[in-house]
Amino acid sequence: MKPSPNATDSSQRPLGDMGGPRRILHIFMAFALVLGCFSSDDLQGWKNVNGLKGAMYAEMLYSRACVKLLNISGPQGCEAPDQQLVTAPLVHSKDLGIPFEGQRVVVVPAAEADSFLTRFLGDPTLRSRVAGVLVDPTTGRPSHHSTAPKFPSAAFAPYDSPSYVWNPYGTGFNRQWFGIPIYMLTPALANETARRAAYNADNEFKGGRHVARMQLPMYAQGDSATCITDQTCLPVGGYGVWTAVPPLPDTNYSSVPPRNITLLVAQMDSNALFHDLARAAGSSVSGLIASLVALTLIAQSDAPPTYSRQLVFAALPGEGFDYMGSKRMLYEMDLGSKFVQGIKMDLVDQVVEVGPIGSAWDAAANASTFFLHSQRSGGYGSAAALVAAAQAAAAALDPPRVRSQPASASTPGLPPSSLSSFLRVRPSVAGLLLADFDTAFRGPYYQSEFDDSANSTLAMVEAIVDASLLLATTLHSLAAGPDTPPLEPNRTRAALLTAQLGNCLLVDSPGLRCPLATQLMNPDISVSYDGSTSAAISAYPGVLSWVAADPRSSYFKPNLPRFLFNYLGNLTAVPLSNTTNTTTGEGAACDPNQNICKPPYACIGWRYGTKDPAGMGRCRNTTTNYVPAYSTRLVYSLVGSYWRWSVNSSAAAWDSTYGWPTDPMWTESNWPAQTPTLTVFQEESRAVQVATLVVGVLLTAGTAGVSWLGIKIFERHIKIQ
Ligand SMILES: *[C@@H]1O[C@H](CO)[C@@H](O)[C@H](O)[C@H]1NC(C)=O
Ligand SMILES: *[C@@H]1O[C@H](CO)[C@@H](O)[C@H](O)[C@H]1NC(C)=O
Ligand SMILES: *[C@@H]1O[C@H](CO)[C@@H](O)[C@H](O)[C@H]1NC(C)=O
Ligand SMILES: *[C@@H]1O[C@H](CO)[C@@H](O)[C@H](O)[C@H]1NC(C)=O
Ligand SMILES: *[C@@H]1O[C@H](CO)[C@@H](O)[C@H](O)[C@H]1NC(C)=O
Ligand SMILES: *[C@@H]1O[C@H](CO)[C@@H](O)[C@H](O)[C@H]1NC(C)=O
Ligand SMILES: *[C@@H]1O[C@H](CO)[C@@H](O)[C@H](O)[C@H]1NC(C)=O
Ligand SMILES: *[C@@H]1O[C@H](CO)[C@@H](O)[C@H](O)[C@H]1NC(C)=O
Ligand SMILES: *[C@@H]1O[C@H](CO)[C@@H](O)[C@H](O)[C@H]1NC(C)=O
Ligand SMILES: *[C@@H]1O[C@H](CO)[C@@H](O)[C@H](O)[C@H]1NC(C)=O
Ligand SMILES: *[C@@H]1O[C@H](CO)[C@@H](O)[C@H](O)[C@H]1NC(C)=O
Ligand SMILES: *[C@@H]1O[C@H](CO)[C@@H](O)[C@H](O)[C@H]1NC(C)=O
Repeated sequence: MKPSPNATDSSQRPLGDMGGPRRILHIFMAFALVLGCFSSDDLQGWKNVNGLKGAMYAEMLYSRACVKLLNISGPQGCEAPDQQLVTAPLVHSKDLGIPFEGQRVVVVPAAEADSFLTRFLGDPTLRSRVAGVLVDPTTGRPSHHSTAPKFPSAAFAPYDSPSYVWNPYGTGFNRQWFGIPIYMLTPALANETARRAAYNADNEFKGGRHVARMQLPMYAQGDSATCITDQTCLPVGGYGVWTAVPPLPDTNYSSVPPRNITLLVAQMDSNALFHDLARAAGSSVSGLIASLVALTLIAQSDAPPTYSRQLVFAALPGEGFDYMGSKRMLYEMDLGSKFVQGIKMDLVDQVVEVGPIGSAWDAAANASTFFLHSQRSGGYGSAAALVAAAQAAAAALDPPRVRSQPASASTPGLPPSSLSSFLRVRPSVAGLLLADFDTAFRGPYYQSEFDDSANSTLAMVEAIVDASLLLATTLHSLAAGPDTPPLEPNRTRAALLTAQLGNCLLVDSPGLRCPLATQLMNPDISVSYDGSTSAAISAYPGVLSWVAADPRSSYFKPNLPRFLFNYLGNLTAVPLSNTTNTTTGEGAACDPNQNICKPPYACIGWRYGTKDPAGMGRCRNTTTNYVPAYSTRLVYSLVGSYWRWSVNSSAAAWDSTYGWPTDPMWTESNWPAQTPTLTVFQEESRAVQVATLVVGVLLTAGTAGVSWLGIKIFERHIKIQ
C-alpha cells in the first residue's frame, strides 16, 4: 500500500526497483549485509561463525537471478515454487547421467545454457528432475545468445510474416515460464560450485553432499491484471527523455507557427534473462551513443538556428517489452499531455531510428556498413528522401569509410523497430531505420546479458563514430534551410565524444562515475553484498513504483534517464549570458525539491543537496523532458485515499483506432527483502548436524555481543555519510 505518490517500497526489491530512492536502498543493502553476517536462519548453527562459515558456505545475495514477470496471459521467468526454499544436490550438466533419485541443481556452462534450457522446457522428465539451474559464465562466452524470439514482437510489425527469422539466434526464453530458480553465477561462486559438483559426482552423490539452497519467492500469482489488483507486482517501465534542437520557443505554438518535425529515435535499454546484468551495448546503447554524438556535433555547430525543420530526439525505454516506450509516448501525444508538450504527431513527418549498429564495423575493411531499412509495401510514407539523404551523406564523408546501402528487398519489410509504432499511428510518416544488418540480425547478443561489449569494445566504438558522422550529416541535410551552412563533422571530435560517452554507458567501470556524468549529476551507486560498488547503467527498464508528474524533475529518476536528461539539457540549452537575471528565471540556482525552475526552464546539472551551492543546478532554457513508459492499460491514481496502480480501459478506444495488438501489460512480481539468495554448502549427516547445532548455539551467544558492536559501528558509519 502506498500512501502517497512519493511512497516507495524499495525495501521489497533490492535490485529491481528503478523507480525508488536508491540511496535508501543502498543503506538497506548494507544493513542487510551486516545482519546477514550475524543472523541465524536455520538448523545450520555453524552459519553464525564467520570463519567457519567461509570454509563451508559460499553465498550470492540479492542479485543475478532470473525473476518472475507477468503479462496479461500469465507468468514468464523464474521463481521458487510455492515461495519455498529450494535445496538440492549440485550436479554438473555433464554428470547428469550419474544415477540419483530426486531433484538436483544443475550447473551449466554458459555456452551450453541455451540447449540445456531448451531441453528443460521440452522434456517433462528432465523438468521433473531439475530443481534449479546455475549458469557458469567462467567457461567461455557463448558465441551467440539471444533471449528474444526469432521475430521479436512479430504481432507489432506493419506486415504479417510471423515466421520470418530476423533474430537467427533467438531462443524466445524471455517469453517462457521456467518456474524454477535460475541464477547466473559470479566467477568466484562458479569456481566453488564446480568444485562441489565435482565432489558429488566423484562420490556418486553418497555421503555428505554439496547442495545449493535457493531463495527466490515471488509474490505475484496468476497474470498481470490479477497481481496489479492484488498489489503484488509493479509495472515494468521507466523514463525516456526527449529534447528539441534548437529549443522550442513556444511549446503551445500560440506565438510562433509550428514547423514540421524530423524525429530521431533510439532505444535506450533492452532485456535479458538476468535483468541486473543487461547492458544492451551492441543492440541499443551503441545507437544511443551515436545519436548523442550526432546531436552534439549538430548542436555545437552554427546550423540549428537556420534549420527550416525542427529536430527532435527521443530516447525510448522499454522497447524490448512490445514497444512499451514508443506506444506510451504516442498515447501521451494523443492525450496532449505535459510530458510531450511541443511534439504533436501530425507535425512529425520524418522519423529516423538508429537500430542495432554495434556490429557495423568490419576490421578487415576498416569501414562500417549501414543498411537503410524502410517499410516498402502497405501504403506507408515514402522513405526515398531519407534514403537518398543517408546515401549522399555517406558518400560525402572523408575518409570514405562509412558505407550505407538500401536494405535488401527480399525481406518482408521493416525489421523489428520502434519505427513500426510511429508508422502504425501515422502511416504517412517517412521512416528510416539505420542498422548494422540487412536480412537478419548480425549482433549475436540481442536481448542477452552477454551484450556487454566486453569482447568487442573497440569494434563498437569504431561503429559508433561512423554511425554518428552518418547521422549528423543526414539529419543536417534533412533539416537544412536555404541559409544553412554545410556541416563539416570533425571525426576526431566524434571519436573523442564517443570515447567519453562510451566510458559512461558502454563499460561497467567507471560507468556513470565517468567525468561527463559527474559534472552533471550524482549517479546512484549500487552496493553489492561483497562490498563492491558499481555505477554501470542498467539496460533493463526496471519497474515504476509511481509516475512522477513533473516532466522536468530529476528527483528519484534512475541513472540512465537522469544522465540523458542532463546531458541533452546542457547540450541544447540556450547559452547563459552574463546579463541573465540569475535571481529568478534563467540561470537561477535550482534543485528538484525547493528551488524549482519556473516553466519552461529545466533544472540542469543538479548534483546533490539542497543547500550546497556547488551541488545546485541552473535553470536553463531547453526543451528537454522525461516521458514515462508503462502499459497503456495501467493508470497510477488516487483510489479511495491511496495512490496506486490499477487496470483501466481508458486507452482502449485509442488502442483499437490504431489496431494495436492486445496490450501485454508487462509487470514484475514483488518479492521479499533479502532475496534472491543462493547458498552452496555441504550437507552433513543428521548426527553431525545435531552436534553442530549445540556448538552453534553456544557460539551464537558469544557472537551476540560482537553483533551488537557491529551494528553500532555501522550506525555511526551511516551518520558520518
Ligand atoms: C504473454 O506472454 C506469453 C509468453 O510468456 C505469450 O505467449 C503471450 O502471447 C503474451 N501475451 C500477450 C498478450 O502478449
Ligand atoms: C578455483 O580457484 C582456485 C584458486 O583461485 C584455482 O586454483 C582452481 O583451479 C579453481 N578451480 C576451478 C574449478 O576453476
Ligand atoms: C528560449 O529560447 C528560445 C530560442 O532561443 C527563445 O525563442 C525563447 O524566447 C526563450 N525562452 C525563454 C523563456 O527565455
Ligand atoms: C501552454 O498551455 C498550457 C495549457 O493550456 C498552459 O498551462 C501553459 O502555460 C502554456 N504555455 C505557454 C508557454 O503558453
Ligand atoms: C509540412 O508537412 C506537410 C505535410 O505533412 C507539408 O504539406 C508542408 O508543406 C510541410 N511544411 C514545410 C514547411 O515543410
Ligand atoms: C582506419 O581508418 C582510420 C580513419 O580513417 C585511420 O585513421 C586508420 O589509420 C585506418 N586504419 C588502417 C589499419 O587502415
Ligand atoms: C571474443 O573473444 C574470443 C576469445 O578471446 C575471440 O575468439 C572472439 O573472436 C571474440 N569475439 C569478438 C566479437 O571480438
Ligand atoms: C577537430 O577536433 C579536434 C579535437 O576537438 C581539434 O583539435 C581539431 O582542430 C578539429 N579539426 C578541425 C578541422 O576543426
Ligand atoms: C555543458 O555544455 C557546455 C556548453 O556547451 C559545454 O562546454 C560542457 O562541456 C557541457 N558539459 C558536459 C558535461 O557535457
Ligand atoms: C559580458 O560579456 C560580454 C562579452 O561576452 C563582455 O563584453 C561584457 O563586459 C560582460 N559583462 C560583464 C558585466 O561581465
Ligand atoms: C531579477 O528579477 C527580479 C524579479 O523579476 C527582480 O526583482 C530583480 O531586480 C532582477 N535583478 C536584476 C539584477 O535585474
Ligand atoms: C480510468 O482512468 C481515467 C483517467 O485516469 C479515470 O478518469 C477513470 O475514472 C478510470 N476508470 C476507472 C474505471 O478506474
